[in-house]
Amino acid sequence: MAKIIAIANQKGGVGKTTTAINLCAALGETQRRVLLIDLDPQGNATTGAGVDKNAHELTTCDVLLSSCQTKEAIVSPEHVKFDVMPSNADLTAAEVHLMSIDGRERRLAEALKQVEADYDYIYIDCPPALNVLTLNAFVAANGVLIPMQCEYYALEGLSSLLQTIKQVQGSVNPRLAIEGILRTMFDGRNKLGHEVSNQLIEHFESRVYRTIIPRNIRLAEAPSFGQPIVYYDKSSRGSIAYLALAGEIIRREMATASARNAAQTQTESSPPGEVPRPDGESDGVEASTDGKAPVEPLPSDTVGRGDKPVESSSQEAPTVS
Ligand SMILES: Nc1ncnc2c1ncn2[C@@H]1O[C@H](COP(=O)(O)OP(=O)(O)OP(=O)(O)O)[C@@H](O)[C@H]1O
Ligand SMILES: [Mg+2]
Repeated sequence: MAKIIAIANQKGGVGKTTTAINLCAALGETQRRVLLIDLDPQGNATTGAGVDKNAHELTTCDVLLSSCQTKEAIVSPEHVKFDVMPSNADLTAAEVHLMSIDGRERRLAEALKQVEADYDYIYIDCPPALNVLTLNAFVAANGVLIPMQCEYYALEGLSSLLQTIKQVQGSVNPRLAIEGILRTMFDGRNKLGHEVSNQLIEHFESRVYRTIIPRNIRLAEAPSFGQPIVYYDKSSRGSIAYLALAGEIIRREMATASARNAAQTQTESSPPGEVPRPDGESDGVEASTDGKAPVEPLPSDTVGRGDKPVESSSQEAPTVS
């Protein structure tokens, strides 16, 4: 069953779409089955993945309005290793329509039931607003990945985002969690960047991804070629960082799964009354046990806690295919 993650931050231009496209591509390279849902009427995730946003009759809009089967609105572009549910300006019309529909916030969740067994990961690229579209993503998702730019106004608006997540958790979707905080467009030369990064770690602790996405011109160029960075320039710092992020996500997942299994085994073998103690997260898991491509170790300069951001451009990209 797919893990469904909403990539959200109502702040505009923080790297939501860039993360959605490049993380899906990086996970696709590890042979995970991945679907990218474009839930933004701007359609940037669609074009950035190399899909013509006006060439497809069926889009996320039709899925939300239940005017087609979910599968019918999914395309499998030949040049990438993930599927895309495209979007375009029609989605604005869907948003207006949804306002008069009962259960409007559950439309995407209901629709994804038709396809969640077909994927390992489903990422939803949200618009820069806490509107009914983003709400649909939060109701459908297991977790929220929050991209944050480490700059002065970064934390502004974060409390309303967290409040919305909490409200959804407390009502329609108790399983919704903060999956991770991702530091994006990081400039290691900027003192303020380090300060904001440290504040994020203080507040969110281990929920801040160790991988930092650097500011990298190749990441900004890639969408105009309709290519994820792993294909546009695999050895760029941006590509290395997103491959590292995919590795970190897979490792986290494997550590959680093995902790769950250990707890389960312990529960089954423990005498009644004994409390099982799950193993802690291990960062040393390098081999996949699920038949998928193994995960390479993170390049040392793409991990950090604010004190060690991505700096070097001389690293080779990890081979994950
Ligand atoms: N790490 C990076 N380095 C350099 N440029 C980047 C990086 N990440 C994103 N950009 C550029 O910054 C701009 C905003 O990024 P992006 O579209 O991913 O943000 P967004 O949060 O999805 O925006 P919106 O809120 O409008 O949906 C884009 O032009 C993108 O190419
Ligand atoms: Mg976007």
